[in-house]
Amino acid sequence: MAGNTFGNIFKLTTFGESHGVAIGGIIDGCPAGLKLNFEAIQQELNRRKPGQSTIVTQRKEPDTVEFLSGIFEGQTTGTPIGFVIKNTNQKSKDYSHIKDVYRPSHADYTYEKKYGVRDYRGGGRSSARETACRVVAGAIAKQIINSIKINAYTSSVGDIFLEKPYQDLDFSKTERNDVRCPDQETAERMIEKIKAIKKDGDTIGGTITCVLQNVPIGLGEPVFDKLHADLGKAMLSINAVKGFEYGSGFCGARMKGSEHNDLFNEDGTTTTNLSGGIQGGISNGMDIYFRVAFKPVATIIQKQNALDSSGNIVEMQGKGRHDPCVVPRAIPIVEAMAALVLADFYLLNKIYS
Ligand SMILES: Cc1cc2nc3c(=O)[nH]c(=O)nc-3n(C[C@H](O)[C@H](O)[C@H](O)COP(=O)(O)O)c2cc1C
Repeated sequence: MAGNTFGNIFKLTTFGESHGVAIGGIIDGCPAGLKLNFEAIQQELNRRKPGQSTIVTQRKEPDTVEFLSGIFEGQTTGTPIGFVIKNTNQKSKDYSHIKDVYRPSHADYTYEKKYGVRDYRGGGRSSARETACRVVAGAIAKQIINSIKINAYTSSVGDIFLEKPYQDLDFSKTERNDVRCPDQETAERMIEKIKAIKKDGDTIGGTITCVLQNVPIGLGEPVFDKLHADLGKAMLSINAVKGFEYGSGFCGARMKGSEHNDLFNEDGTTTTNLSGGIQGGISNGMDIYFRVAFKPVATIIQKQNALDSSGNIVEMQGKGRHDPCVVPRAIPIVEAMAALVLADFYLLNKIYS
């Protein structure tokens, strides 16, 4: 399997399966002398972990990170940072029904056809458990670029949308409710929606909006490694993500240039920001904002048809613990992936600008 590494200078390689001994990662290229805030790293993991509220999966994993290398007396040494998170709450029996059956819209069929072998327990490597490693690395990346503010929040669940623009929101309120929507009234409707969906044994999709503020001018390499291209890859690499748009996004395609152009102020800032803080692939100092669309995930507790390994259409029903809507738990993952991209470009910029 290729493609387990992300980044150019600040590089994260992850390993491990959902029901193996542990998952973990190696971070290469972290600058030496960074005094790490371990509490902040664990705090980010706690925001992602299962079992934190009634609207997410009831799997109970402490998700405690253990660092193995690259750190001495609380500071990075510049050598590879190795870490593991032990798997402690596997219920592999919950997955025996999919040993020879491919779940619709999951990764079972493609993994088996590609590799000829599949760890079906908990989805193996295709499980979003892998994203816990991204959150650890992202929390370290956040500490490299600590003057940049990264705030993600739930902006829709199914047909319930947070209609307010991000400028009208108080991001300090995002963590005050289980769905991580900074507008309490909208959050309550989203939570009700997820509860009703869960009761039906179904799942629902949604979107996350992420805002990056105080980004210095000049991040991004303007040909193949445009800042928005790497942000797009980062977000689309998250399990269950089906869409990414930044700035005016698809709405911009319906506009005229005379409406869309961001006119300059004398100090180089712009009066509007439909460019979403990036022009020519390079950050321009304005806020960067983007939206990420998550599908309703595959595991539903309802009978549906599936394909077995002998080519028969068989009836199956999802079992075990699953997320009725993954969006609230994906907020720290989106922030972590944004931090990885920004830290990488920040370090790259020191060499090439
Ligand atoms: C935080 C998070 C939790 C997830 N939990 C589940 C789950 O409980 N059940 C499920 O079927 N998929 C879940 N997924 C999505 C699957 O990992 C994903 O759909 C699968 O790997 C197939 O990949 P694809 O949907 O990107 O094609 C979750 C995704 C995220 C980000």
